[in-house]
Amino acid sequence: MRRLLSALLLAAAALVALPPGTASAGTVADYPEFPYPATAYDEPYRGQFHFSPRAGWMNDPNGMVYYRGTYHLFFQHNPHGLAWDTMHWGHATSTDMVHWTQRPIALEPGVHPGDLWSGNGVVDTANVTGLKSGDDDPILVFSGTNGVTVHYSTDGARTFQTFDRGRKVAVPSGTSRDPHVFWHAASNRWVMVVWNDGGGNGATFYTSPNLLDWTYASRFAAGWFFECPDMFPLAVDGTGTVKWVLADASGEYVIGAFDGTTFRPDWSAPQRMDLGTNTADGTFYAGQTFTGVPDGRVVQMSWQPGNHGSTWTGDQTFPAELALKTFPEGVRLTRTPIREISTLRSGGQAYSNRSVSPGGPLAVATADTYEVTAEFDVAGATASSFGLRLHTRADGTYDRAVGYDRAAATLYGRPLAPVNGRVRMRVLVDRGQLEVFGNDGRLSVSDNVNFNSAGTSQGIQAYAEGGAVNLVSLQFYRLGRAWGTGESTLDGNLAGPWSAVGGAWTDTAGGKQATATGDAFYLSNTTAGDFTYEGDVKVVSGTAAALTFRASADGTQHYTANVDTGGVVKLWRPGKEIAVAATPIVAGRYYHLKVVAAGSRIRVYLDHGANPVIDATDTAYTSGRLGLNVFHGTAILANPTLNGTGLRTNLAGPWHPAGGSWTVPGAGLRGNSGTDAFALSATTAADLTYEGDVRVVNGVAAALTFRASADGTQHYTANVDTGGLVKLWRPGQDIAVFATPILEGRTYHLKVVARGPGIAVYLNGTKVIDASDGTYASGYLGVNAFNGTATFQNLNLSP
Ligand code: FRU
Repeated sequence: MRRLLSALLLAAAALVALPPGTASAGTVADYPEFPYPATAYDEPYRGQFHFSPRAGWMNDPNGMVYYRGTYHLFFQHNPHGLAWDTMHWGHATSTDMVHWTQRPIALEPGVHPGDLWSGNGVVDTANVTGLKSGDDDPILVFSGTNGVTVHYSTDGARTFQTFDRGRKVAVPSGTSRDPHVFWHAASNRWVMVVWNDGGGNGATFYTSPNLLDWTYASRFAAGWFFECPDMFPLAVDGTGTVKWVLADASGEYVIGAFDGTTFRPDWSAPQRMDLGTNTADGTFYAGQTFTGVPDGRVVQMSWQPGNHGSTWTGDQTFPAELALKTFPEGVRLTRTPIREISTLRSGGQAYSNRSVSPGGPLAVATADTYEVTAEFDVAGATASSFGLRLHTRADGTYDRAVGYDRAAATLYGRPLAPVNGRVRMRVLVDRGQLEVFGNDGRLSVSDNVNFNSAGTSQGIQAYAEGGAVNLVSLQFYRLGRAWGTGESTLDGNLAGPWSAVGGAWTDTAGGKQATATGDAFYLSNTTAGDFTYEGDVKVVSGTAAALTFRASADGTQHYTANVDTGGVVKLWRPGKEIAVAATPIVAGRYYHLKVVAAGSRIRVYLDHGANPVIDATDTAYTSGRLGLNVFHGTAILANPTLNGTGLRTNLAGPWHPAGGSWTVPGAGLRGNSGTDAFALSATTAADLTYEGDVRVVNGVAAALTFRASADGTQHYTANVDTGGLVKLWRPGQDIAVFATPILEGRTYHLKVVARGPGIAVYLNGTKVIDASDGTYASGYLGVNAFNGTATFQNLNLSP
């Protein structure tokens, strides 16, 4: 019956007219490659402070934007294999450009039309696109081949829609790709530069007032210029004349003038900003810079194709600040690791004025991943070459030398003239990556090296050959790992890094999933003694799913409160069943567990009951980590919340129920009902904008209700329905439906805008229903749950 109903509703959905230009963002269910296998980012050659995808193939960095405290890195991504294929846009976020957390896929073939190839992104803070639909500024990203397509987000880059069903907004001649958009303040316009080969290699420029309508401006033809343009202004020597830099995928660049329409280069031949191997199978390719870095820095990341391991291919260079500086040979672009590298440093060690010779090398330190900056006196040296040996072993062998050849005047084989008789070399050494900088960024060489990271292979040595050299100064720092400050699909408020003890853990749409033969734990970095801790747990198959608390990092000490399909809720610790409460527990549905721990008293609540099902005393552990547990089978754990703050709303109380059972637990308002049930606030409104976060914990629907009568017999209700739709209805009438996957355990943001008979419904910032119904003019605001359990949070009315 339900299937039939769903089929009818889905058929009806096809008839709902959508405003032009609106397309479904797709939801997690449309993204079959997520989950990836779990990774601790500890495989051989896995960069510890270089970004790589959890699994699959990565190439160019894309859409790098800063938005309200978060840096977004998108990237060319094949999640299905280790080679280039079927491009998606992967996504990762960071608050400092150093520590990255991978997010679900941003652009997905089949959901987002067009070839999802490289391009950049901008934030539309002035809403010139008119695409803004909530609090968030639109974020636009540009992609497509042989014509530019626009995708945009109205929820802070959580989900993306495609503009005008993928209509190409600019079509350069010949083969073309890799649009790059930037703001040109002097002409007060947006500019797009695209690589194309109509008439030979070159860049075609377009301008736009609104990021959506583009007008051809000019063409810059150059045989050397191929793929992935980047373009940005820089003040020479930080204060002087501003020059525009135009670069291509191989890091070749020219500087020149740009008036908003035409680029006029100062040079006839390009320079190279990085002297690694600048090809798609090399070590430095397709670099891009962030838009909107708050302090105005120009920061670049670039694809390093050569790094790969058991489950991934490719990494990105450590972010580098770009500058233009004047040298005897002219103005050149410099690359310098961003200063946020300091967040990774520990164990500093400094040396000065050491004579280094073949018989007397300097043992600098022993380290796995690290940074060394060293200055050598070239003018006074008798050595033919000198520098740093990396990953040395007791037998004298080493993995790589970064040396300066005095006769050739080269560092690491690339030309570098001494300055005032000295050279400075700086190396960033990661497990599969080596970045070499000479004379403060004048020379940059990005390389991939498979270092042997065994403990016996971690020596660092300053050396000289054929004579002696004075090591003027040397600074060493250990660089720690940048991984593990967050989790991609585990909604909740516990801090990372998380660590797994036993079991196989993956990300699923509904939460964190584990399969274990015995006990497996997933432990957060949040430690607490007395607290309220709650979460939603579901046994998929097998025995038990649980909350763990007051745990040791290795999981050998802990309390665990579970639901067990043997028909109990159980509180236990290693070696002791503290208490059990008999209650039917079935596989396949979520239960809400809540633990209130106060000293030796531990209470466990099931499904928001007013009274604990377990009220026990135990003194074994007083504090420790919060986490999750699975025993013997497969389970999904979601929404782990410490000391939740109740319902956040600007609606007036008291609330009253109309059907069902309603509670206000830690994580918001919660309703349970076999049929339709309402909780209604004391606020009434006629015209309104009303929004909130709704979640079907298990069952069918969660909804916002408005213009309701006090007894709930008259109302409008806009819901998310796990049958796969968003629906606007009133008693006796489905007004409109929009088909889209809706998942249990997932939070959706619903917004209703009602003006007289006009009622629009937004899902995650995108308008999905635009309807007209004049039955009810005003009434109470509240929420609705249908056939199951639903939770509600952040319920807010605005005029
Ligand atoms: C550069 C590149 C781009 C293209 C993308 C496809 O590496 O060829 O020109 O957009 O990769 O993945």
